[in-house]
Amino acid sequence: MVRKNRLPIFPDDYIEDKAEEYDSSKWMERNQKRSTLISVEYLFDERLNDIEDIGTEMGESSLILDLGCGTGYSSEVLIQNGFRVVGVDILNDMLSKAREKKKISKELKKLELILADINNLPIRNNSVDYIISISSYNFIIHGLENYGEKVKLLNNTGKNLNNFLKNKGRVVIEFYPKDDNELKIFNKSFINNGFEGFVVKNKPKQKSGQTFLLLKKRM
Ligand SMILES: C[S@@+](CC[C@H](N)C(=O)[O-])C[C@H]1O[C@@H](n2cnc3c(N)ncnc32)[C@H](O)[C@@H]1O
Repeated sequence: MVRKNRLPIFPDDYIEDKAEEYDSSKWMERNQKRSTLISVEYLFDERLNDIEDIGTEMGESSLILDLGCGTGYSSEVLIQNGFRVVGVDILNDMLSKAREKKKISKELKKLELILADINNLPIRNNSVDYIISISSYNFIIHGLENYGEKVKLLNNTGKNLNNFLKNKGRVVIEFYPKDDNELKIFNKSFINNGFEGFVVKNKPKQKSGQTFLLLKKRM
């Protein structure tokens, strides 16, 4: 999610006192939760349905990965919507806030939290129903300047996510690509690695800004 007047900087905006600031911001909580709710609706968007099927039903036992779960705002919404949630984040400063909430909240008791890189996840193949990522996925290419390196990493991660999903598994990525070119390489990393789907932009004429990738594992 965009900070009030600018895009956040990784990792600076998520470590030490900034993690505390993030977690005590009501504005941030509202925005993360709103984006998560929109993304949950997109997970069941009928445009992803096959002609002959009625779509994947969400059930009590559906397992969802929350990639870049931060301090747990998005995971909380997912639990409230009936998912079993595994939240993953690379920064201990953010994840420890989620752990604190888990300790004191009955609702978050079942939340599973893993300190890991989205690009290198300890998840079994064919074990996950859904994947969601709220305001985090643009950071996975952090530190890479070279176009070829970015494409290679994105493709590798796209392939891994595809392997983690069960048949017809769905993914929604809500993120902030910095321009059309960046959007293209992120989208292609899914479409070229076993997914079908499409892009939804909050403000279509804006080059950057809130963007959703709605994806389904191709049969
Ligand atoms: C906007 S914040 C968290 C948003 C989260 N949806 C929430 O509800 O709090 C973005 C998060 O992405 C995480 N992140 C960035 N790169 C990552 C990576 N490669 N692997 C895992 N997490 C990452 C950051 O540590 C940060 O906590």
